[in-house]
Amino acid sequence: MPGDARAAAKAVETAEAYYDSRDADRFYAIIWGGEDIHVGLYERPDERIANASRRTVAHMAARLSNLKPGARVLDLGAGYGGAARYLAREHGAHVTCLNLSEVENARNRTLTLEQGLSGQIRVDHGAFEDLSFPDASFDIVWSQDAFLHSGDRAKVLAGAARVLKPGGELIFTDPMQADHVADPAALGPVYDRIHLPNLGSFAFYRAQLEALGLEDAGSEDMTGQLRTHYARVRAELEARRGELKGEVSDAYVARMLEGLTHWVNAADQRLLAWGVIHYRKVR
Ligand SMILES: C[S@@+](CC[C@H](N)C(=O)[O-])C[C@H]1O[C@@H](n2cnc3c(N)ncnc32)[C@H](O)[C@@H]1O
Repeated sequence: MPGDARAAAKAVETAEAYYDSRDADRFYAIIWGGEDIHVGLYERPDERIANASRRTVAHMAARLSNLKPGARVLDLGAGYGGAARYLAREHGAHVTCLNLSEVENARNRTLTLEQGLSGQIRVDHGAFEDLSFPDASFDIVWSQDAFLHSGDRAKVLAGAARVLKPGGELIFTDPMQADHVADPAALGPVYDRIHLPNLGSFAFYRAQLEALGLEDAGSEDMTGQLRTHYARVRAELEARRGELKGEVSDAYVARMLEGLTHWVNAADQRLLAWGVIHYRKVR
């Protein structure tokens, strides 16, 4: 296997092992609310994480002209499926969740069943680098804060473009590096935490999507929300650390606090970016 392909396969393995771990599962359930695990849109910096996170989903959904009852949506790296249930319940969409972690997929299926949405949501185990869906089979490809884990983001975007119908929309968020990071070494502590040599960027995603023939449908830079969110998660974790005793290992909590501090510091140094990227497949 060539070096790049080996690195990409390793990234998939690392993400799967992390999201399948009991530590991660209990942490996301207790501290983040167990539905959505992505950057929230905060009206106040001390707002509940779950409310701000749900606002991101609603904000993205409101941008989509294809989001009508019966619309076929593919969610790449769907986690616990919070967005899928929102899109199914509020907009009548039919959502396929593709996700690497079977621990998350099991919770997704349970929550979906409990909320009476199993008829509209299918949960598949798999990696978004290798999409097996037919060409032109979705009206919308959606993803939140998942592409950062990939060792081959160009391949992920090419697959997403392939499975979109003509006129279909690709919408995603991702924690990224700023377009002109002066000193990439400054992001070392952030990269170490995701076990990857880099992050995407607005410039990288735009160039890739334009090369694939997609048109910008009005992307939004909301980098300030990333800083607010990671600081909010850190504060919540510090305040509620006691609740995690016996559920999440001390080593995981310590590493998480350190990692969150790296993200906040890097955001303060303007090394990071975050926002909604929204493109349309013309034909
Ligand atoms: C930060 S979580 C976001 C989950 C979900 N999108 C949300 O916003 O609640 C990142 C997700 O990406 C998934 N993931 C990471 N690498 C993946 C890959 N190569 N293929 C499919 N899913 C992947 C993980 O399983 C995890 O659920």
